[in-house]
Amino acid sequence: MNAPPEFDAPFRARLRELLVWRRDVRRFRAEPLPAGTIERLIELACLAPSVGLSQPWRFVIVEDAARRAAIRRNFESCNAAALAAQDETRAGLYARLKLAGLDEAPIHLAVFAERDPAQGHGLGRLTMPETAEYSAVTAVHTLWMAARAEGIGMGWVSILDPKLVAEALGVPAKWRFVGYLCLGLPENQDDTPALERAGWECRRPAEAHILRR
Ligand SMILES: Cc1cc2nc3c(=O)[nH]c(=O)nc-3n(C[C@H](O)[C@H](O)[C@H](O)COP(=O)(O)O)c2cc1C
Repeated sequence: MNAPPEFDAPFRARLRELLVWRRDVRRFRAEPLPAGTIERLIELACLAPSVGLSQPWRFVIVEDAARRAAIRRNFESCNAAALAAQDETRAGLYARLKLAGLDEAPIHLAVFAERDPAQGHGLGRLTMPETAEYSAVTAVHTLWMAARAEGIGMGWVSILDPKLVAEALGVPAKWRFVGYLCLGLPENQDDTPALERAGWECRRPAEAHILRR
């Protein structure tokens, strides 16, 4: 074991800045990321916690143009359905939101969770099998932070039909779709979520999310 590092006050202040300045990015610059970037970020994502140390996350780097086009069509159709489901007071605002950077992002990464991986020997999943997906989400967040720390933006796209995503990517039927991630250099940086800037929703203070019993 290496000597444990000391995370001092300046580090904690920087970590806080990283949390404050992480954004869901939907507007990317066109230039590609250096070769090996996504593989390196995935390596860091694999340090995330997972139920029973099962590491049930599965990453699909989507490079094929036809598969990307299928994902784009999937998004367009689901987004049109979501727009149609808005009530009339929200529809105009919804229509103006940019909810994916699928056209511009140089890197597309689909994340799945394997519900019943051999790794981990089932520990922690008997009563809560969904902890496989939760584990994959911890990996996504780890990747998000690691990317932001080196100036790379990430956007999470969930306005998709999971079954069609699995079909388009030809993954095993038992994998559960977790999220479709777009990565690239962000067009701009902000400390406020895009949905807040657009007037869709605003963040509440932490007390609003705490219950005491
Ligand atoms: C599970 C999950 C799914 C999301 N899906 C989408 C999506 O389909 N499209 C989108 O524009 N943003 C999506 N987001 C991003 C959220 O809108 C964003 O995290 C939120 O508005 C807060 O903004 P911030 O991430 O910049 O702090 C998703 C985020 C999460 C965690």
